[in-house]
Amino acid sequence: MRDLSRLATPGTPEELLVRRIDFDRLPRHVGVIMDGNGRWATAQGRPRVDGHREGVKAVRATVETCARLGIEVLTLYAFSVENWKRPRYEVWTLMNLLKEYLRREIDSLVENDIRLGVIGRWRDLDPSVVRAIEAALERSRDCRRMTLNVALNYSGRCEIVDACRRIVTDWAAGKRADIDEETIGRYLYTSGQPDLDLLVRTSGELRLSNFLLWQVAYSELWVTPTLWPDFRAKDLFEAIVDYQARDRRYGTVAEEGGEPAQERRPG
Ligand code: IPE
Ligand code: IPE
Ligand code: MG
Repeated sequence: MRDLSRLATPGTPEELLVRRIDFDRLPRHVGVIMDGNGRWATAQGRPRVDGHREGVKAVRATVETCARLGIEVLTLYAFSVENWKRPRYEVWTLMNLLKEYLRREIDSLVENDIRLGVIGRWRDLDPSVVRAIEAALERSRDCRRMTLNVALNYSGRCEIVDACRRIVTDWAAGKRADIDEETIGRYLYTSGQPDLDLLVRTSGELRLSNFLLWQVAYSELWVTPTLWPDFRAKDLFEAIVDYQARDRRYGTVAEEGGEPAQERRPG
């Protein structure tokens, strides 16, 4: 019997939600477009970067909650290739927050058996950021309970381009593989990880913003008006309860008296 008290305090609205979660049908891979930091700060008459600082608390809460729930992979969209178009000071602050997050949180990630993965063109970032990432990746390399992917200098289109380039390089070196869905999946940054089951976006925006374009093919989408700095365990529980009420048909139709479509995913 799962110890629900680690997920929510008895008697709280969070606990009522946790009780509705079917732990045998959890999404294996959850992705989050963490949006609305700027608006959160602006609404309080504060500079946008204050929203990013506050957003780190939501990251901590979300990582902890996903690990406790038993999610296999959590992917957080932290910085897109398009985000370079932002003011220089905002970009600088985001990079510093990232370094600080890795430095401060890596012990706790390792203690909780959480393996860090970084996806995107992160090797093109400032050398100080690259060093911080490499150190954190190395520290958590053998952790197994959950994988936390941080999407950094990430673009779904660049990911597909990079996969194609690597396939061509391998072909030239004599390592030939059929060009099919399985091969492309294997060359993506998320190689070996399950496709995204549940995509959460905060701040009410109804778009993908170049996030996990391949892996999102049959994800369930869940959008909340809550701004990222205000996002907590309760919001995540709501998303999961809602996800579990969906009929994931994968293009098929429900058979009368048959097994639910969710169980019939091809391949
Ligand atoms: C998300 O919040 C954080 C990043 C994109 C890095 P935003 O900074 O996009 O906040 P809004 O959308 O402007 O409110
Ligand atoms: C998406 O948010 C990128 C991240 C959350 C890192 P944006 O705020 O950059 O997306 P748009 O510009 O609203 O599409
Ligand atoms: Mg935004």
